[in-house]
Amino acid sequence: MDTSRRAFIRTAAASAVVPVLGPAVLDALERRLEPFDRLSPSAAATEEEFWAEIRKAFPVPADYINLENGFSSPQPAPTFEAFQRYQQSINSGLSFYMRRKNAAEKLAVKQQLAELAGCPVDEIVITRNTTESLGTVIHGVDLAPGDEAVMCNQDYGTMLEQFRQQSRRRGLKYVEIAIPLTPRDDQEMVDTYAKAITPRTKLVLVSHMINITGQILPVRKIAEMAHARGVAVIVDAAHSFAHVAFKVPDLDGDYLGASLHKWLCAPLGAGILHIKKDKIRSVWPLFGETSVPEDDIRKLERIGTHPTWTNLAIADAIRFHRMIGAERKEARLRYLQQYWTDRVRGLPKVYLNTPAGNRACGIANVGMTGSTPAQLADILFDRYRIYTVAIDTVPVKGVRVTPHLYTTTGELDALVKALGELARAS
Ligand SMILES: Cc1ncc(COP(=O)(O)O)c(C=O)c1O
Repeated sequence: MDTSRRAFIRTAAASAVVPVLGPAVLDALERRLEPFDRLSPSAAATEEEFWAEIRKAFPVPADYINLENGFSSPQPAPTFEAFQRYQQSINSGLSFYMRRKNAAEKLAVKQQLAELAGCPVDEIVITRNTTESLGTVIHGVDLAPGDEAVMCNQDYGTMLEQFRQQSRRRGLKYVEIAIPLTPRDDQEMVDTYAKAITPRTKLVLVSHMINITGQILPVRKIAEMAHARGVAVIVDAAHSFAHVAFKVPDLDGDYLGASLHKWLCAPLGAGILHIKKDKIRSVWPLFGETSVPEDDIRKLERIGTHPTWTNLAIADAIRFHRMIGAERKEARLRYLQQYWTDRVRGLPKVYLNTPAGNRACGIANVGMTGSTPAQLADILFDRYRIYTVAIDTVPVKGVRVTPHLYTTTGELDALVKALGELARAS
């Protein structure tokens, strides 16, 4: 890590405002939010009083505007305090807890997670993150030399790397397609994937929400097309899970991975893997497990000792998420994105890499001709104290802007003003 990055992180950590809200007052917060239940999700999306209450639960940086919430989410105070409580209580009497109590408590969390995901508990595993969830599949399925896997140039780098390794190791043919930034319609996207499928194709990877642009892909339609050709579908839902309102079966993927430390706001290192019941047999456990039947998903749970308090706090994250409501959360995040993108669309030199309407939600990407993404991100931070991230890939050049539930429209006004000044400067 370079020194400026280290110094930045030190300053940011020192300046985070620790909220005073704790788990004891979560009930009170729920009661304060109750009057808003009469509003539809879209009406609640613009109700600043509601979101001001939510903001109080998050640690908001005091000296810069954080519009880079796509990396991971801070935990809201009730979740963070529960997480710390679990650490403290388990730490005293650790082996007793692990041997006598952990299995039942973890199962209870898993049941809540399955309910949130809308699928049976015997189709999910709690993992550490999307990388592990999808890696378990990419490295766990049988692949023969010459088998093909289709993915796109805007999928997450780590997933592409895992397929590249399978290409080196097992002779898998790695087929990376280019997808449109702003498709005309769903069919154009489905056709783009369909064209890459051959009789040797075994797997298609589809990102539900592209992390660098925020584009939402018509996963179900792509899955139906792939299934009709006998091809299994891996869904990367790292950014869509608990961001847009959907249930895992809606997408019809055979395998799905998501990170719960992103939009569910769980502690770092929490993820979910879903495998359709009839596909569980197709995945070999990476670490070996012969004591569990091959069609029992628990064969993937022998992963060694890991931070169990993270898993327990998933239940608290779910409670916070349910308090807001999946539809209300999606509506707010889309509203925030459209709030600023609508105001900068059409500015000289400014271009958006994110489709309009329901093809995106909270995440969007903006570029400016004449500036590299890194220059734009730097000037936004150095001159305006607005933190974003530069995306400089072949298909996408711009800065990714990711508001959060605690973001105010005032903060987005600051971004709009900054982009306006930069766009008009010669
Ligand atoms: C689309 C996508 N997939 C996978 C990942 C990897 O997530 P994790 O680091 O939690 O495994 C990310 C991370 O940002 C992502 O955006």
